[in-house]
Amino acid sequence: MSISFEDRVAIVTGAGAGLGRSHAKFLANLGAKVVVNDLGGNVAGEGGSSKAADEVVKEIADAGGVAVANYDSVTSEEGGQSIVKTALDNFGKVDILVNNAGTIRDKSFTKLDLKDFTALMDVHLMGSVFCTKAAWPLMMESQYGRVVMTTSSAGLFGSHGHTNYSSAKLSLVGLMNALKQEGTKKNVLVNAVAPMALTRMTEEFMSPKLAPKMKPEYVSAMIALFCAEECKLAGEIVECGMGYYSKVEIVEAEGAFLGNGDVPTPDEIGANWKAISDMTGARPYKNANAIIKGVFDKMKARGLVPEK
Ligand code: NAI
Repeated sequence: MSISFEDRVAIVTGAGAGLGRSHAKFLANLGAKVVVNDLGGNVAGEGGSSKAADEVVKEIADAGGVAVANYDSVTSEEGGQSIVKTALDNFGKVDILVNNAGTIRDKSFTKLDLKDFTALMDVHLMGSVFCTKAAWPLMMESQYGRVVMTTSSAGLFGSHGHTNYSSAKLSLVGLMNALKQEGTKKNVLVNAVAPMALTRMTEEFMSPKLAPKMKPEYVSAMIALFCAEECKLAGEIVECGMGYYSKVEIVEAEGAFLGNGDVPTPDEIGANWKAISDMTGARPYKNANAIIKGVFDKMKARGLVPEK
């Protein structure tokens, strides 16, 4: 397999800095025509300037690639539509959408102002919703699309002082899981990355000495695979950075039936915690219905429900 994006049109949101800049350049270097979206604000999403996106467009052009800038915020329906329109007006279609734009506003939950919670839901969740919603009908119509969500280990596993960020980031997994049910049959494939990279967003927590090891390109290579025509993966989450690539999965334990056909007491549930939480044989499910069917199958196997 030798991945090329010749004749492919990609949108990368938040591509004026950090990971997005790297993704845009990586895809352009492999032949994609790229919409470089960025509103050019600070790490909290305040302020704005066309400079960030313009500079990346110039870097791509200087390297012989093709790119156009878009300065809209992803946080409105009109913004999402305008970003997709930029792709259509300049390149005639949209094949790839990398939902990358993001901000942070860290505070303990006790001190957090709720407007900083909403702001993060707006950029991470709704920003991805608005852009995907604008691109989705085009992708479904053309029966081709590759969409990548940017989640985070902060959402997947939790992180102190990040209630807003963690909530927003994990919500993208829900969005991906549901979109997968609708898009896969039309070759519109949605996956997610959980990056680890040194950018202005993470420089506060990381030593600059780590910069070469934590360069965003390690993540961009994973993005490029998910965006490739050859890649048929859907609904995958990959933790990636520093040359490390690892699948993350939500699984359910085998579980235990308690109460002997009656409602168990809370004490009985507590007493059986070991069996409830035994992860031996834990497995993922392809959708929510499969879980319910799985429970019924287990009940049948134990003679707890009639066969028909
Ligand atoms: P960054 O701050 O360097 O880049 C984010 C870019 O998004 C900036 O250029 C910013 O102007 C742009 N942006 C912010 N709000 C926007 C909006 N409303 N509309 C359009 N553009 C907007 O941060 P970094 O590290 O490159 O983050 C990129 C994505 O990766 C974010 O979604 C972040 O949450 C996620 N992430 C990053 C990790 C890391 O290790 N750097 C870890 C986990 C997730």
